[in-house]
Amino acid sequence: MSQTNSPINVAVIGAGAFGRNHLRVYRDLQQHGQAVRLAAIVETDASRASALCEQWSAPIYPSIEACLDARQRGEITLDAASVCVPTSAHYATAAPLLTAGIDLLVEKPIAADTTQAADLLALAERHERILAIGHLERFNPAVSTAQSWLNRPMFFEAHRLSVFTPRSLDVDVVLDLMIHDLDIVLNFVNSPVHELHAVGLPILSSKVDIANVRIEFESGCVANFTASRVSTERIRKLRFFQPHQYISIDYARQDLLVINVDPSASPTPAFPGLPPGLGIRKPPVQPGEPLMLEIQSFLDCVRTRAVPPVSGQEGLAALTLALDINSAISAHARRAGLDAL
Ligand SMILES: NC(=O)c1ccc[n+]([C@@H]2O[C@H](COP(=O)([O-])OP(=O)(O)OC[C@H]3O[C@@H](n4cnc5c(N)ncnc54)[C@H](O)[C@@H]3O)[C@@H](O)[C@H]2O)c1
Repeated sequence: MSQTNSPINVAVIGAGAFGRNHLRVYRDLQQHGQAVRLAAIVETDASRASALCEQWSAPIYPSIEACLDARQRGEITLDAASVCVPTSAHYATAAPLLTAGIDLLVEKPIAADTTQAADLLALAERHERILAIGHLERFNPAVSTAQSWLNRPMFFEAHRLSVFTPRSLDVDVVLDLMIHDLDIVLNFVNSPVHELHAVGLPILSSKVDIANVRIEFESGCVANFTASRVSTERIRKLRFFQPHQYISIDYARQDLLVINVDPSASPTPAFPGLPPGLGIRKPPVQPGEPLMLEIQSFLDCVRTRAVPPVSGQEGLAALTLALDINSAISAHARRAGLDAL
């Protein structure tokens, strides 16, 4: 990328369920005149790759090495990439790309373990590359709006329930789903973890499919997280309390409810069950697709060299907490004799 307004040449690595969303967003941005160009796709699954040929005009490579060789030979130009392979393959794909000087948006979680994640951070620093992590709920407009209401959150309740699909089974539900809420709460609380208790069980896969966690932060804030990928319903909610205030975020509906202690509040017909002395409001939320906002932010960072809103460091922090939770789940299973079942 030589000039400020020249297109950023991007690759999507892994064109599975979620990689196809990245492809769609890059194409939409390109078609709407944004300075971005889909330059390559890397997909190891040959039948999936041949189906992609019909839909995308970009060259498709069977491996990172083949893609980087084509770049070396001058057949393609590549400035940036979305890494959308399964989590277990994040490190093996992201490391050579950073080393080759490519800016990266790596899907969440940053990597499968903290050693790999720390190594990616070091590579990004050494090669002066942008490393953004795809914790896309940070870009959910309801979350951004809630941020302006934040003063002293003391209690969080997060529920993220999904129906079972046979995807992302290379990781457990904590790394697959709960990590979204861990990242948001870490960002909102901004305090180290003091204590955590966790329970989790495998249900339909060989890994933990349902988990409940209670974390107390050094600030005194307490957070409860429940995540399931074997639910009969789909719920994505985060509720929190702070002095004289309760805030509820519905990630899926992108809406926000704020209830304040307000002795002068008059009864609200829309909420007949609400006791007197409480004021309720729904702050306006400008709707937007979180992935679109995340990718636009990534492209801005590539262009301006700014630190991404969800940096590699924050990806590492969310992963570290998720893995601590998994250790606590294993310890609990041993204490309860569940590991023998
Ligand atoms: N941000 C979110 O809300 C969100 C949602 C879903 C998935 N994800 C993340 O996206 C990533 C992919 O998940 P998915 O559900 O799309 O998985 P998937 O299995 O549907 O797709 C992964 C694709 O990567 C390909 N692949 C595997 N190894 C490769 C390699 N070395 N090089 C190139 N291609 C390779 C596979 O053939 C497959 O097509 C995971 O990290 C997951 O956690 C994020």
